[in-house]
Amino acid sequence: MRHHIRFYLGQTLHEVSDISPTLTVLDWLREQQGQTGTKEGCNEGDCGACTIMTVRLESGQLTWRSVNACIQFLWMLDGAQLFTVEHLQNPDGSLHPVQQAMVDMHGSQCGFCTPGFVMSMVAYVQNGGGEDPKAINTALAGNLCRCTGYAPIVRAMQHACRIMVEQGNHFDVAKQNIILRLSALQDDSSVDIQSHCGRITLPASSNVLASVYLENPQATLVAGATDVGLWVTKHLRDLPHVISVRSAKDLHKLEQRDGGLWIGAAVTYTQAMPALATHLPDALETIKRIGSTQVRNAATVCGNIGNASPIGDGPPLFMAANTILHLRQGHIRRQIPLENYFLEYGKQDRQPSEFIEGIFIPDQSAQTVMRAYKVSKRFNQDISAIMAAFAISVGTDGTITQARLAFGGMAGIPCRAKMAEKALLGQKWDTPALEAARTAILNDFTPLTDMRGSAWYRSTVSANLLTRFFEETAQHGSGQPLRLEGWREISHA
Ligand SMILES: Cc1cc2nc3c(=O)[nH]c(=O)nc-3n(C[C@H](O)[C@H](O)[C@H](O)COP(=O)(O)OP(=O)(O)OC[C@H]3O[C@@H](n4cnc5c(N)ncnc54)[C@H](O)[C@@H]3O)c2cc1C
Ligand code: FES
Ligand code: FES
Repeated sequence: MRHHIRFYLGQTLHEVSDISPTLTVLDWLREQQGQTGTKEGCNEGDCGACTIMTVRLESGQLTWRSVNACIQFLWMLDGAQLFTVEHLQNPDGSLHPVQQAMVDMHGSQCGFCTPGFVMSMVAYVQNGGGEDPKAINTALAGNLCRCTGYAPIVRAMQHACRIMVEQGNHFDVAKQNIILRLSALQDDSSVDIQSHCGRITLPASSNVLASVYLENPQATLVAGATDVGLWVTKHLRDLPHVISVRSAKDLHKLEQRDGGLWIGAAVTYTQAMPALATHLPDALETIKRIGSTQVRNAATVCGNIGNASPIGDGPPLFMAANTILHLRQGHIRRQIPLENYFLEYGKQDRQPSEFIEGIFIPDQSAQTVMRAYKVSKRFNQDISAIMAAFAISVGTDGTITQARLAFGGMAGIPCRAKMAEKALLGQKWDTPALEAARTAILNDFTPLTDMRGSAWYRSTVSANLLTRFFEETAQHGSGQPLRLEGWREISHA
C-alpha cells in the first residue's frame, strides 16, 4: 500500500501525500505551483481555457490526452506525466510549432483562450491528427474563443500539422524517456491517503475496490470526474472520502466476448470509441457529440450510466442496443437489463457499496437496424434536449419482431416508449405502422418544459424522430428495413 501519489509535472517528479480529495489540478497548478499559464474560465469543463495534456502508459503505449484541469482532481494524476503550456517551448527556447503557428496565422487576440487551444492542438498532433478541418473542429470543439473567431485558429492548426510533419517536435524526441519514466511509476500497489483534508483511496483492482467500498459505503466513487468535478466546483460539495474507479486495472478491460462487447467501468468514451464504431456503427456520430474531446478523454461510459442523468446520451443508446449492466457488491455479482437500473428520478437499483463493473452490449443481429439522434441547441459540446435511440428487428416474413425505442429528456429517467413499441410489433415497417407509433408515442411521455425545450417541443420532436428513422430505414412499399450504405453522411451532414 502506498500512502502518496506520484506524477511528473513537466520534468519534475512530485510525490504528494497531504492533499484534499477535492483539490483540482487547476487550483494546484495556479495556486500552489504558481503556474498560471493554464487559465480558469468557466470552471465546469465547458470553455477549455484550462486544457492540459496528460501522458500515460496504457498497455505499453503512450497516450496523450487533453483534459480539463478544472474538473480533474490532483490525485487522478497518479502515474501520469502532466504538461501545461509552460512546458511547450523547444529546448533552444523557441516556441513549439503549434505556438508559432498561432502567432503566424493570427490565432490569438486577448489571449485568454490561447493556452487551452494550444494544449488541445498539441494533444491532437501527438495523436497523429492531420490537416482535415473536420477532425480539427472535433479536436477543438471543447475550446471557446470570444474574440479571434475560429477560422484563423483552424488555419494555425493546419499550418502546425504541416510543420510538424516536416520537422517533428521535441515531444517525439522525448518519447523513450517518457516511457522509461512512466514505467518506473507503475506498480501494483493500491493507494490510501488519509489526512486532515479527507481520505483518498485508489484501489489497484476491482477486488480491492469492492472490499474498500463495502467497508465505506458512504464514500464517493469517482471515475472520470466529469460529473463529480462539478459537484465540487459548482455546488461546493465536500467529498470526505473518494474511491477511484479508474485506478483498478482490471476495470480497463474493453473486449469482444462471446456474443458481444464488454466495456469495463474504467473505460473512457475516447478509449471505447473504436470498439463502439465497429459494434454500434449507426451510433458513432452521436457518440462523437458527447461533450468535447477533453470530456470524452476523461468521462467513462459507465460513469455516464452511474450518474443516471435523465438527459445523458449513453443510457438511451445502450438501452436500444439491449445492454446488460453488471453490478457488484463485495463478492456478490448480479446482472440486470440496463433499463431496469433507472427506477425514478434520482433513484437507481443500486445497493449501498454496490458498483458498476461494466456493461455488455450484445452483438446486433443482421435483422436489426439502429439509429441514434441527439437533439441539442448547439451541435457540439451541448447537453441533449432529447436523445433518441431506435432499434427494430424484422423477421423473414417482413414483420417487426423487436422494437426498442429509447429516449432521454422525455421523463425523469432514461426510458423506453413502450406504447409506441407495441404499436410496431407484428407490423410491417410501413407508413401505417409509423403513424400508429407516432400516435402512441404521444401517450408514452409527459415531458417537462425547461430551458432546453418545452413539453410541446419534446413531444413533437420525439414523434418526428420516429419519422426520420422511418425515412432513413424503410423501403417504401416493401415494409422491409433498408440498409443504405452511406446514409450516415446524408443524415449527419
Ligand atoms: C462540459 C461537459 C459536457 C458534457 N456533455 C455531455 C454530453 O454531451 N452527453 C452526456 O451524456 N454527458 C455529458 N456530460 C456528462 C458527463 O461527462 C458524462 O455523464 C460522463 O460519462 C460521466 O462519466 P465520469 O467517468 O466522468 O463520471 P464521474 O463524474 O466520475 O461519476 C459520475 C457519477 O457516476 C458514479 N459512478 C462512476 N463510476 C461508477 C461505477 N463504476 N459504479 C457506480 N457508480 C459510478 C459516480 O459516483 C457519480 O455519481 C458532460 C459533462 C461536462 C463537464
Ligand atoms: S475553466 Fe472552462 S473548461 Fe475548465
Ligand atoms: S483570443 Fe480572446 S478569447 Fe480567444
